[in-house]
Amino acid sequence: MAKPNVLVTRRWPAEVEARLTEVFDATLSRDDVPLGAEGLKAALGAYDAVMPTVTDRVNADVLAVEPLRARVIGSYGVGFNHIDVAAAKQRGIVVTNTPDVLTDCTADLAMTLLLMAARRAGEGERHLRADAWTGWRPTHMVGTKVTGKTLGVVGMGRIGRAVARRAHHGFDMAVLYHDAVRLTSEQELEHGARACANLEELLGAADFVSLHCPATPETRHLMNASRLSRMRKDAILINTARGDVVDEAALVEALRSGAIAGAGLDVYEAEPKVTDALKTMENVVLLPHLGSATRETRVAMGLRVIENVQAFFDGRTPRDRVA
Ligand code: DGY
Repeated sequence: MAKPNVLVTRRWPAEVEARLTEVFDATLSRDDVPLGAEGLKAALGAYDAVMPTVTDRVNADVLAVEPLRARVIGSYGVGFNHIDVAAAKQRGIVVTNTPDVLTDCTADLAMTLLLMAARRAGEGERHLRADAWTGWRPTHMVGTKVTGKTLGVVGMGRIGRAVARRAHHGFDMAVLYHDAVRLTSEQELEHGARACANLEELLGAADFVSLHCPATPETRHLMNASRLSRMRKDAILINTARGDVVDEAALVEALRSGAIAGAGLDVYEAEPKVTDALKTMENVVLLPHLGSATRETRVAMGLRVIENVQAFFDGRTPRDRVA
């Protein structure tokens, strides 16, 4: 039987690309440039499966392509807000993502941002590289203590829980969380976490607020001017979820006015564009969407896509089916 033909939109780790060509009749990306709407339409019209990632906007217009050949979209990444899942469903296309395998590394990166922002690590590195360091002194680059503080986790799914575990067990932090789903009391104990009645309660009490909710129409600009103003003036906002969850213009204003003390960001509203004002602020740590960027995780994500798409063509339900 002929192997399904699949198109991969970006470069993947070499060992995963090798595996892709064993399992499928695979067309790989050579230039690593996003396909754009027309390229995605052509792919959906010509391949049995398309393997996009978070930089590909597979919207309703793209999914309306005629004739349609693709029966499955194996997305590389856990977030799938770049795919119009309802439109895919309507066209009878199965969509899968890659949860679990990036939980630890994304949680590690959230803690990296938290520590960097609290301890002024980015600022300190820039200072030293600019040859501005004149030596140790008691008042130099004094930051905020992390150990023993209170972390507010917004969205207590896999990644939120992994961050809570690190914060509680590694840094002795008290953890507050806000989520539509309440953890069991055993889980709360395990994460040292207490549920807040509402987001405002969490925002008013946390020294650090870390966002881990999915990007949905409901969470768009969840952190708007009003919610940012509910945070403590000495608090720091961490976002490794999606740029959409924060109103970036309101965040700039909150940082400028001193409504909050700092931010650590890995994701942005209009990636790869980052609001210029943020780049000039010393109290902001900016990373280029590195949450899952470790060798181990990026390989595991690719293998997970292969597993999902293979399951589909074997007539089984892919384990990470989202539509
Ligand atoms: C995801 O998987 O959704 C990340 O943002 C990229 O790893």
